[in-house]
Amino acid sequence: MKEKTDNVTTEVKMPLADKKITVGIAGGIAAYKAADFVSFLHQQGAEVQVIMTAGAQEFVSPLLLHALSGQVVITDMFANDASLHIPHISGVDGADLFIIAPATANMMAKAAHGIADDVLSAAILAATCPILFVPAMNMHMYENIATQENMAILRQRGYHVLEAAEGRMACGTVGKGRFPESSILREAVSAILFPRQDLAGKKVLITAGPTREHIDPVRYISNHSSGKMGYALAAAARSRGAEVTLVSGPVTLPAPQGVAVVPVITAEEMYQAVLSRYEEMDIVIGAAAVADYRAQSMAEQKIKKQDAAKNSLQLNLVANPDILQTLGEAKTRQYLVGFAAETENLLANARRKLVDKKADMIVANDVSQPGIGFYSDANAVTLVTQTEEIGLPAMEKQVLAEKIWDAILAKLDK
Ligand code: PMT
Repeated sequence: MKEKTDNVTTEVKMPLADKKITVGIAGGIAAYKAADFVSFLHQQGAEVQVIMTAGAQEFVSPLLLHALSGQVVITDMFANDASLHIPHISGVDGADLFIIAPATANMMAKAAHGIADDVLSAAILAATCPILFVPAMNMHMYENIATQENMAILRQRGYHVLEAAEGRMACGTVGKGRFPESSILREAVSAILFPRQDLAGKKVLITAGPTREHIDPVRYISNHSSGKMGYALAAAARSRGAEVTLVSGPVTLPAPQGVAVVPVITAEEMYQAVLSRYEEMDIVIGAAAVADYRAQSMAEQKIKKQDAAKNSLQLNLVANPDILQTLGEAKTRQYLVGFAAETENLLANARRKLVDKKADMIVANDVSQPGIGFYSDANAVTLVTQTEEIGLPAMEKQVLAEKIWDAILAKLDK
C-alpha cells in the first residue's frame, strides 16, 4: 500500500504482508463470518488461499471468496485446473498458517482421526504449518463428548483449537457454539504468526503428571494427574522462547515440540531428575502431583489375596522427599512456582505452602470442583504471592498457561 505525505510517497508495510494464509471453510452457517475474516486477512496484506468443502458452498459461493481473497478458490480434490497442481497439496504448500473456519464437528472428527475424504480434510493431513481450528456449531453438537474428545485430541497433537463463543445461534438455541468474535480470532492469528519471545534466554524446568509408587510388581499408588497442566506450561514456555526441560511422570501425552522431556516414574526419580538440573535453571514450576508417601518396601512378588478371615491388609508407608521444599531451601537465584491442589481452605493452604516451601508463587487450584483441576482440559486458579492474590476464572489449560507465564514475567520484571 502506498501513502502520500507532503508530496512524498512512502511504502507502508501491511501487518500481514509476506504472510501466506490458507483458510479452509467447512459446511456450517458461520461460513459467511469466515468470508468476512478472509476479507480482513486480505486487506491486511496476507496472500490468502481459500479451500471450501461442498457443504461450505451451500452457504457461500466460491465466487464471493474468490473476490474477497483475490485468488481462485480450491473446491475440488480432482479439479482439472492447471493453475492448481494437486489442489489439496498446493493449497497449503508454503503456508504460514492454516485456519479452519468454521471448524465443524465433522471436520474436527476427520482431522482427529486422519480421515482425508474431501479436499479440505486432505489438505489438513498434508499441511505442515500451524493449524488453527475455529469451531462453530449447534451447542449440543459442540458439547457432545465425541466433539469434545476430538478437540482434546487435536490440542494434544499441538494444533490450536479456539473455544466457541456463547450466545444465540442460528438454530435458535442459546449456549456455547457460536463463531468467536473477530477480535479473538485476530488475537489468535497474531499469537501464532508473531509469537512473543519474552522467555528467550531463560532456562525453565517444569514437573508434570503423577508419580507412581510401587507396592509390588503389579500394583502402585498414584493419582489422577494427566500432565495436561504441566505440558501446557512447557509448550507455552517453549513457544515464548525458553529452553524447556519437562520432568514428567507417566502420562499419555505427546512431548511438546522442542521440549526436552525427562521421563520418570517415582517421586524419588523425579526428585533426582529435578535436583540434578536445578542449579542451571532460571525458573522452576512444580505442576506434578507428587505422591507424598510410598510403600516402605516393594514386595518382590505379587502380594497374594489374604484368606477370607483376614479381610484387611496393612501397608506401611513412608514419606517421599518434598521436591518443592528442597528447591525452596536450596534456592539461589531461581524463581520458584509451586501448585497447591486443595479440596478445602484453598487460599489458607496455598498461603501456608508459599511460606513453608519458600516458593515465590503458588498456583492454587480447587480440585474438588467439577470440570477443572485433575484430568480436565480446563482449570481455574488463584496465583498467590507474598504481595498479591490474582484470581483466574476457568479456562483452557493452554490459555491459563500463558496467563501464568505473564504473571511470572511481570514479577521478574519488578
Ligand atoms: O495434570 P493435570 O491432570 O493437568 O492436573 C493438574 C494438577 C491438578 C495436577 C495441577 O494443577 C496441580 O495442582 N499440581 C500439584 C498437585 C499437588 O501435588 O499438589 P500438593 O498441594 O500436594 O503439592 C504442593 C506442591 O508441592 C506442588 O507444586 C507439588 O508438585 C509439590 N510437591 C508435593 C509433594 C512432594 N513430595 N513434592 C513436591 O514437590
